[in-house]
Amino acid sequence: MNNIINIAVVGLGQIGIYLLNELNRKKDEIELKTGKKIRIVAISAKNKNKKRRFRINKRIFYSNPLKIFKEKKIDILFEIIGMSDGISKKIVETALKNRIHVITPNKALIAKHGDYLSGLAEKNKVNLEFEASVAGGIPILRTIKEGLATNQINKVYGILNGTTNYILTEMEDTNENFNKVLEKAQRLGYAEPINPKLDLNGFDAFAKVRILSALAFNNKISKHKCIMEGIDNIDLKDIKIANQLNLRIKLLGISEMINNKLFETVHPCLVSKDSYIGNVNGVMNAVIMHGKPVGENVLQGEGAGPGPTSSSLLSDLLSILRGNIKKPFGIPTLKRKKVKPFNNNNYTNSLYLRFEVKDKPGVLSSITNRLAKYKISVKRIIQTPDKKNNKATIIIITHKTTEINAKNCLSIFKKNNNILKFPTLIRLYN
Ligand SMILES: NC(=O)c1ccc[n+]([C@@H]2O[C@H](COP(=O)([O-])OP(=O)(O)OC[C@H]3O[C@@H](n4cnc5c(N)ncnc54)[C@H](OP(=O)(O)O)[C@@H]3O)[C@@H](O)[C@H]2O)c1
Repeated sequence: MNNIINIAVVGLGQIGIYLLNELNRKKDEIELKTGKKIRIVAISAKNKNKKRRFRINKRIFYSNPLKIFKEKKIDILFEIIGMSDGISKKIVETALKNRIHVITPNKALIAKHGDYLSGLAEKNKVNLEFEASVAGGIPILRTIKEGLATNQINKVYGILNGTTNYILTEMEDTNENFNKVLEKAQRLGYAEPINPKLDLNGFDAFAKVRILSALAFNNKISKHKCIMEGIDNIDLKDIKIANQLNLRIKLLGISEMINNKLFETVHPCLVSKDSYIGNVNGVMNAVIMHGKPVGENVLQGEGAGPGPTSSSLLSDLLSILRGNIKKPFGIPTLKRKKVKPFNNNNYTNSLYLRFEVKDKPGVLSSITNRLAKYKISVKRIIQTPDKKNNKATIIIITHKTTEINAKNCLSIFKKNNNILKFPTLIRLYN
């Protein structure tokens, strides 16, 4: 690599424009730390005249990023547009084929095409770096690839989405309902203004789980069907009840090897308020890893936003500038295994069940009888009558049972005149 490094930044949205400013501000520091002088020779976004947070040099602006490859000599390209396919994939593919190092925070792209793209990077002897794609500013991928390189990791889990963690925390703190808090999150820039669905339904966290498992367990990115639930059905009522039980609801992403099979999931969990994970609040993310011989490792930090994301993007840049040319997933793509999926039906948890029922004799026993039929034993029952409306809320905490057993057991409550809505189920974290 020469001492002068040509850089292209494609995508100047929330993240891209902040990164561009950081690159300009930190040129000297980067040179001091790597011995390389960086030059930004091309930038790209859709709209040249859009008002942006920082000024841009319009002379190097491209509205068609593919033109950059024809007109400029580039050493390192940042892809910061954000789709899993289309122009984002095309740019990364073209860059790698042209022996240009690529840095991206695009989890959707990596979770879907990471195997193919890492093979392409290896073939062309360039880097594909994506530290910012998981948990924003937390250096989790580098920690797995480098710091814990020789450990046998068997579990990685945590809070991987700051938007949902903010919403859950804020609902608990303010007693406001989901929609009110979502609006606030959108105003503050923590949730997408137009379509926040991918954060709320667990998809965003799930893409991160898939990237984490591939790195932690040296496997190909899995395509298995998994349990993926978001927080869109979490009711303020459940947050309040959890609070009384000294529990808190957190959206957890979990990836684990169980008997050599891969288990991946994202769903809301009830965790103890006294636990570490129960105290990771607001926009914070946290990742917990279990490895041998290292034991438990915990990393916590801001999981999104321009500052933390740029911090990770710059760490990728410095890694490349220092000549750290490595396999994107730590080992050669050809050596990464395809692992068999753990059967989701056998996933086992204690459950929190909330029934909204007619306040009539016999309703509670019809529920407990049904649970008994499926050998789901009850740890705790709390019944709160609403005399005025002739209704009651019944909370049941069960001992451990499997997914399939719970599903079969609860199915009957879809059509029961005394049960006013299908019971809410939240798993307790083991
Ligand atoms: N936001 C976060 O906190 C965060 C955190 C971690 C990772 N990420 C990842 O970072 C990436 C970018 O996110 P963001 O929040 O910055 O998105 P964003 O604000 O929507 O920015 C997208 C940028 O892409 C540009 N663009 C769209 N289509 C283009 C095309 N055909 N050619 C050239 N440029 C095009 C847009 O141009 P215009 O500006 O002209 O419209 C815009 O500048 C995503 O992969 C996201 O998952 C984001």
